[in-house]
Amino acid sequence: MAENRSLLQVLNGKTVTPPPLWLMRQAGRYLPEYRETRRTAGSFLDLCYSPDHAVEVTLQPIRRYGFDAAILFSDILVIPDALGRNVRFEEGEGPRLDPLASEEIGKLDGSGMLDHLAPVFETVRRLRRALPAETTLLGFCGAPWTIATYMIAGRGTPDQAPARLFAYREPVAFAKLLDLIADLSADYLVAQLEAGADAVQIFDSWAGVLGEDEFAAYATGPVRRIVQSVRSRRPDAKIIAFAKGAGLQLKGYRQATGADAIGLDWTVPLSFAAELQKDGPIQGNLDPLRVVAGGTALTEGIDRILDRLGNGPLIFNLGHGITPQADPDVVGRLVERVRSFGR
Ligand code: CP3
Repeated sequence: MAENRSLLQVLNGKTVTPPPLWLMRQAGRYLPEYRETRRTAGSFLDLCYSPDHAVEVTLQPIRRYGFDAAILFSDILVIPDALGRNVRFEEGEGPRLDPLASEEIGKLDGSGMLDHLAPVFETVRRLRRALPAETTLLGFCGAPWTIATYMIAGRGTPDQAPARLFAYREPVAFAKLLDLIADLSADYLVAQLEAGADAVQIFDSWAGVLGEDEFAAYATGPVRRIVQSVRSRRPDAKIIAFAKGAGLQLKGYRQATGADAIGLDWTVPLSFAAELQKDGPIQGNLDPLRVVAGGTALTEGIDRILDRLGNGPLIFNLGHGITPQADPDVVGRLVERVRSFGR
């Protein structure tokens, strides 16, 4: 059955026509049915930790569009939540956490993480049973650098300055924090795979602010640590690594991390994407704002990607998460357009 999952075929290096398709943040506020469930579920974390609700919102975009992959509904910040960092999501403001001080790093205790996240694994088990056989189920986690930026600043910041400064001033403590997050993330991904996830994606959403040495130490290294740890227990684990904004540093990133495929944001030139694709599968990279704009901005954006990258191993996706402003009908047109490639 898993052999019929087109996204897994691409992760194994095959070219599938039309390419498998899913959208980052495909379960979310652009869907009225999501907003309805969100309204009744309590807090955002209540939604993540309620298997009934989390299964429902994961399935919503699959019912509507028949995407080739479903992504577990959860959040990357459940790891700091499991570490007791008082994670909350305030309406219209994004995530808030207790900012982490250097002295606290040695005291972080991840021993209760798998118990704390048990509802997430229950969600994965139920999803695998509920999904169509041909739909790939993706688990995920945040990359250590991206998680650390939120833990240190206590919130999202435009340039991740608090974490960058912390790393320059306290490199030893910072390395320790990244190792801890990487080891917990590996255990978290293994548990998702054991519960029934077919593949996992590691989101390094803030990789783009790092200089060369810092990218190697804080982005590539910790993601490689996760990949190696997961594969030591699940040698066949399929992994997508998405380092947003990494630009030229994506050269060699797939090989250096050991990921099966790399995600590309919309700023990656298609000529460079084609070069990366010669070495292995890629995922991306439509600008999410083309979905908001619709019309020719949408169709031209889709066609450029398909013409340039559709004849190699490609997972069609956006270059970052879909925005709440997207019109669900326009998403339907995107799906139709991608599915008509090669017909
Ligand atoms: O559909 C899916 O992709 C699955 C679920 C998912 C969510 N967050 C749900 C969510 C996934 C894979 C994530 C990953 C995530 N979370 C990332 C990495 C990907 C990226 O977008 O860069 C990051 C950085 C986070 C942290 C986070 N969670 C932020 C910054 C925010 C607030 C911004 C926002 O969009 O509101 C969240 C909240 C969040 N996570 C929402 C959803 C659907 C919106 C909250 C709500 O419904 O009120």
